[in-house]
Amino acid sequence: MAVRKQDVAEQVARRAPTMADLADRHELYEDSVQNVEEECEFVSTTFREIRGRDAHSFREDFCGTASASCEWVRQGPERSAFGVDLEPEVLAWGRDNRLNRLTDEQRARLVLLESDVMTVETPPVDVVGAFNFSYFIFKSRALMKQYFESVYRSLKDDGVFILDAFGGYEAFEEMKEKTKYENFSYIWDQAKYYPVTGEMLCHIHFKFPDGSKMKKAFTYDWRLWTLPEVREMLEESGFRKVTVYWEGDDGDGGGDGVFTPDDKGEADAGWIAYIVAER
Ligand SMILES: C[S@@+](CC[C@H](N)C(=O)[O-])C[C@H]1O[C@@H](n2cnc3c(N)ncnc32)[C@H](O)[C@@H]1O
Repeated sequence: MAVRKQDVAEQVARRAPTMADLADRHELYEDSVQNVEEECEFVSTTFREIRGRDAHSFREDFCGTASASCEWVRQGPERSAFGVDLEPEVLAWGRDNRLNRLTDEQRARLVLLESDVMTVETPPVDVVGAFNFSYFIFKSRALMKQYFESVYRSLKDDGVFILDAFGGYEAFEEMKEKTKYENFSYIWDQAKYYPVTGEMLCHIHFKFPDGSKMKKAFTYDWRLWTLPEVREMLEESGFRKVTVYWEGDDGDGGGDGVFTPDDKGEADAGWIAYIVAER
């Protein structure tokens, strides 16, 4: 017996919503990959250590939901932030779900800019941050240096640019890695890697206890840059000193969340590091 398309559509409409239907991809993303408290703590501590004063102004490039900017302005009345992203949908989500949790006074110190990080213009800031590897979207040295040079020009004379990077031999594999959380699983999918160009295509999927899935909740079309390449491009873009902060060992094969300057690193299967570029 033939199944009518309309019957299937009606059946789907009648069924109870699944956990995937009810979930919000931005909430899931933040719960699984972001820790803005630690990010802001790293920015504050590192800036104070190298400059001997507190950072007040912060620009969050590729800000997405602007959670790091929200955390930044929450941490003190002298602090201000710019969040820059070119996607209106994610900025609107941030406004409705993150900025709305700030007090009026805190919100007055945070400006969201719907703009390309390459061309955005902001007053000089103490720190520009680019986290969760978002700058990997620039796939050529020419484009990456254009971006780094524009960040350089956006900083105060003693400003600092802080980025993160990931790598390790597993980063070059086509593979999936699942991490279980209380109400969902996070799946990091390194779907494609092309050794000749260094390009990689990654997805984030989410899976729920009722068996439902949110496939390709986020997709990243990147070049997998290595630390020496990023360091060289930062130096060629004018930064006076570039330091890699490597994560300590928790004694159980994982990272301990404490990042310190390291000029060698270790041949781990997978690592995340911060790069601190001083103007
Ligand atoms: C991986 S998310 C990063 C979210 C958040 N910053 C974090 O640390 O998790 C990348 C974000 O960069 C934005 N984006 C991509 N290209 C951009 C560009 N050229 N200028 C500004 N934002 C861009 C996307 O819209 C997306 O929200």
